[in-house]
Amino acid sequence: MTSDSNRITIEDIRSAKGRDEPLVCLTAYTARVAQILDQYCDLLLVGDSMGMVLYGMEGTRGVTLDMIINHGQAIMRGSKRACVVLDMPFGTYEDDPANALKNAKRLMNETGASAVKLEGGADLAPTIKHIVDAGIPVMAHIGLLPQSVEEPGGFRVQGKTEDTQEQLLQDARAVEQAGAFAMVIEATLDAAADKITQAVSIPTIGIGASPNCDGQILVTEDMLGITGDYVPKFVKQYANMSEIMDDAAKHYAQEVRTRRFPAKDHLYTLSKKAS
Ligand code: KIV
Repeated sequence: MTSDSNRITIEDIRSAKGRDEPLVCLTAYTARVAQILDQYCDLLLVGDSMGMVLYGMEGTRGVTLDMIINHGQAIMRGSKRACVVLDMPFGTYEDDPANALKNAKRLMNETGASAVKLEGGADLAPTIKHIVDAGIPVMAHIGLLPQSVEEPGGFRVQGKTEDTQEQLLQDARAVEQAGAFAMVIEATLDAAADKITQAVSIPTIGIGASPNCDGQILVTEDMLGITGDYVPKFVKQYANMSEIMDDAAKHYAQEVRTRRFPAKDHLYTLSKKAS
């Protein structure tokens, strides 16, 4: 594990509230990807979107604590600078604050990450408080909650009416009061995210929310264009890695089949001694 003296701290993230320059956040699941993203990101999230983007699951519910721990360890090895936050998987925190704390401790102790993230608003506030009171920083996640959505088509934009905007605002205030150091706001009307960002004293990290949030996050594989056919409206693809990988694999297959690879450059041969 790397020395953590140069890592961005939870206090650094908290103090980015209202700053002109938004926080840059991405998900990361492998050490090499973390090493690349680390130079550019303030925060790396080991999210349960790994269920879909790495493991080919239909949703996030199949992700386990052990999966988050294994990938969390890889991200800590691969990064030196970014603040690393780990998702608490479905079924590990909702029912019982004591059980949530036990699982949050496991995540922290076995990875050395800086914080955990969990989904939910006012209903989860007592659990957030219980974990924070035990000394573990918590990032909240409100708006669209992927663990509550079983089908990709079931993803619905939140906060389209006055009432639901008010509910979101109450959720935001509840998680802030419970001691969360920041909150993800996912898939809401921009006006709803703006109201929340203005109302709370902790950073809001938007995904499909608003450019006025205190930070932005995307799933890295979405941003790289390496996920499947379903691309949410809020994703901007900064590369088309699927095409690049397709081309490379096609080229490799052609060269193997025609015995052009391996070529001389790739062989171990005994060098000729000068006579
Ligand atoms: O798991 C994840 O990737 C997330 C992001 C959507 C914020 O929670």
